[in-house]
Amino acid sequence: MTSPRPFRIAPSILSADFARLGAEVSDVIAAGADWIHFDVMDNHYVPNLTFGPMVCQALKPHAKQADGTPVPIDVHLMIEPVDALAAAFAQAGADYISFHPDASPHTHRSIQAIRAAGCKPGLVFNPGAGLEPLDWAIDDIELILIMSVNPGFGGQSFIDSALRKIEQARKRIEASGRDIRLEVDGGIKADNVARVASAGADTFVAGSAIFNAKDYAAVIAQMRAQLGMASLNA
Ligand code: DX5
Ligand code: ZN
Repeated sequence: MTSPRPFRIAPSILSADFARLGAEVSDVIAAGADWIHFDVMDNHYVPNLTFGPMVCQALKPHAKQADGTPVPIDVHLMIEPVDALAAAFAQAGADYISFHPDASPHTHRSIQAIRAAGCKPGLVFNPGAGLEPLDWAIDDIELILIMSVNPGFGGQSFIDSALRKIEQARKRIEASGRDIRLEVDGGIKADNVARVASAGADTFVAGSAIFNAKDYAAVIAQMRAQLGMASLNA
């Protein structure tokens, strides 16, 4: 069931040129990106290490449209523990902060802390994880992030079972009556984004599909065209 909400494309800077991150953020926003997806990895919760709050702070001034409208920074914490760094990312200008429930011994407390810091909290679900934490948290979050790859690296292939989980998450969101974004992360391309939208997603992380391309705007336009067709066929 295609989401009734406006679609959002969130390029992941995990696949951007780390030697020119500020310019990459400006360029991908100029190419049509709606959000900037910020993949934080600690080489503990996942077998990779990326960037911290200081990089988020440095990029914040670049996260804006040509007319100065701020572009949301969507921080995806693949870290354990969660709370201390979540607070630091809130200070550094994050808009959304999502974390994996199995990375926090007190999921509800972590969600409350993110909200108290002025950010929109989200929960992230790995390919092997069920949605049970939503039983007790769906009324407290603004974002559900479904992993369609195992977290840690860009450029992996989309795991098809994520489509069933997206459908289940969409049903839970509708039953909650709340305005929660349903985001999917991993292996999203122009040739599968329509299928992911038809399953119920409304926000799409794409790292390698965009940053490995010569023309960011062309890829984003292709994805939007595919999303437009998914809406028509809904
Ligand atoms: C977790 C990361 C990646 C990344 C997307 O590994 O969250 O999923 O954002 O990478 P691509 O779009 O290249 O699969
Ligand atoms: Zn991510």
